[in-house]
Amino acid sequence: MSLLARAETSLAFSFEGAVGHSAPPRLVAAMRHAVFSGGARIRPQLTLSVAIACGDDQPALSNAAASALELMHCASLVHDDMPAFDDADIRRGRPTVHKAFGEPLALLAGDALIVMAYQVLLNAGHALPERLIGLMQSMSAGVGLPNGIVAGQAWECEPRADLGQYQRAKTGALFVASTCAGALASGSDAQPWVTLGASLGEAYQVADDIRDVMGLSADLGKPAGQDLLHTRPSAASELGLGGAVDYFQDLIQTAVDSVPACTCRDMLQQLVRRESERLVPSAACAAYRLPSARSAPVVSA
Ligand code: IPE
Ligand code: IPE
Ligand code: MG
Ligand code: MG
Repeated sequence: MSLLARAETSLAFSFEGAVGHSAPPRLVAAMRHAVFSGGARIRPQLTLSVAIACGDDQPALSNAAASALELMHCASLVHDDMPAFDDADIRRGRPTVHKAFGEPLALLAGDALIVMAYQVLLNAGHALPERLIGLMQSMSAGVGLPNGIVAGQAWECEPRADLGQYQRAKTGALFVASTCAGALASGSDAQPWVTLGASLGEAYQVADDIRDVMGLSADLGKPAGQDLLHTRPSAASELGLGGAVDYFQDLIQTAVDSVPACTCRDMLQQLVRRESERLVPSAACAAYRLPSARSAPVVSA
């Protein structure tokens, strides 16, 4: 089974196991709309590939961890799209949750998905408390304070934000949790996998900023031009398109180089390269690269 198929199957299994039979139907429909809508599933694929690299001796726990992180990601998108944040009408090529179900149910669907992520972990990990605690700590760090998604989104409410800190919190932190989860679910040390998650996650957000400028809404499946519209800190506006493309490529190279020696090194490096090509194709990189020497990123380390 491919990583993507395993991620999808696990997510469906986890969701159905947690949702129950007596919940308000429109809330459940809103949650399904948020989750089963064709995302790239990069975070759970990262978790599963690192788990395999670490022996994957508890595959049900790896699956649950991968699902929990994707549920958390989907929750963050529901809230991010709401009028109080980015006020976006489409996501993954479909109406956003608040457009399809209204704001009260979108708010609640996001909340319920966050709680469901913890329930999925608890249900799968209660017999392995040491691993479970590590997974809960890691996922909490990816989502909460001081440097998780919530903190990242909150930097948008401050008069000034450091671009790197903002990007690493709103996107990088959940990628770190995703790589670390694969190791933790398999009873391994998470530390060797931090750089892969951090650099790929930051690359993802830099790519999102580039695509927000270069892309068409129909291709992105979500509105383009949002960073300018909402005056968000953006790699494209701070570094220029050429500088952002250079920085993206540097981050991808860091991610590739960071993969620890293991039997899955090739597979993981290919995953990173495939994502890089999907997000910002090398032809586009060449077109936007500055003619002068590669510019040093001005984002703090
Ligand atoms: C979108 O994440 C939000 C960002 C962090 C840039 P993805 O690009 O992983 O979105 P989906 O899950 O494939 O829709
Ligand atoms: C992505 O934020 C990170 C989240 C916490 C959702 P963005 O606002 O940059 O992502 P898109 O472009 O809406 O996917
Ligand atoms: Mg946003
Ligand atoms: Mg947004």
